[in-house]
Amino acid sequence: MLQDHIAIVTGGESGIGAACARALGKAGARVVITYFKDKAAADRVCAAIGDTTRAIAVQADVGNEDSVAGLFSACAQAFGTPDLLVNSAGLNMTGVLLVDMELAQFDRVIRSDLYGPFLTCRALVRGLEGRGASGRIVNISSIHEKAPRAGGVDYDAAKGGLSQLTATLALELAPKRIAVNGVAPGMILTPMNERAVHDAAYRKTLEAAIPWGRAGTPDDVARLVLFLLSPDAEYITGTTVTIDGALSLTVAQGA
Ligand SMILES: NC(=O)c1ccc[n+]([C@@H]2O[C@H](COP(=O)([O-])OP(=O)(O)OC[C@H]3O[C@@H](n4cnc5c(N)ncnc54)[C@H](O)[C@@H]3O)[C@@H](O)[C@H]2O)c1
Repeated sequence: MLQDHIAIVTGGESGIGAACARALGKAGARVVITYFKDKAAADRVCAAIGDTTRAIAVQADVGNEDSVAGLFSACAQAFGTPDLLVNSAGLNMTGVLLVDMELAQFDRVIRSDLYGPFLTCRALVRGLEGRGASGRIVNISSIHEKAPRAGGVDYDAAKGGLSQLTATLALELAPKRIAVNGVAPGMILTPMNERAVHDAAYRKTLEAAIPWGRAGTPDDVARLVLFLLSPDAEYITGTTVTIDGALSLTVAQGA
């Protein structure tokens, strides 16, 4: 389905990013994934896709401009100009109230979760503009782009900003036939929810709040991302699709 396409997946060494990378590889795309710290995990994701003619891993800090430039050069060298981008790299909320939060902490999450997509989207678009080519972007946001949590001012602000970045960029790029969409997951079983992954009793208490009755898996999200990157989604741009088993519909119930 995506044989002629070249994809970059940030955060591809883990969780949702790894599932998206595997799905893209299975669909025939050549894939560059980024890893932050865990090269061995990134190598395993690439190996599941194929040899180095199909997938490579590049160390990158998505919040750093030079690092993102290096990522896109590595992709150009290995496979050519990328036309698909999944921004999955990100850090979770710290749980620190604003009154107690150091600026450096706020900056760390905003850098990875908002500056990161800004830098990678810009690099992708600049590459495509040079060739007059179309492309597709999916930014992994969160239901917390709208639903706030005390202690989540860093994450919630980053994801709220990402939602507007996605919509604004979609408007800018529609005439160029570059689609930009978001995906807003609820509770997904990845290392970001490490305790829920390993502690079944704890997971059950959280899952009790999800109307669908279970947490999501990285593959649930990857199937949606793959669709949004596929030709079947051609006319979809500027929207964010929630994937949360109806969790976000339960706010303001019962009182
Ligand atoms: N797991 C969930 O329940 C959930 C829910 C909603 C949204 N999300 C979002 O999904 C995305 C993927 O999360 P996940 O659940 O797969 O978590 P994860 O922790 O498994 O993966 C995130 C990856 O991003 C990498 N990363 C963090 N900062 C980085 C940086 N500055 N540069 C490069 N890489 C960096 C981490 O090293 C990690 O590999 C994130 O954007 C997250 O906010 C996750």
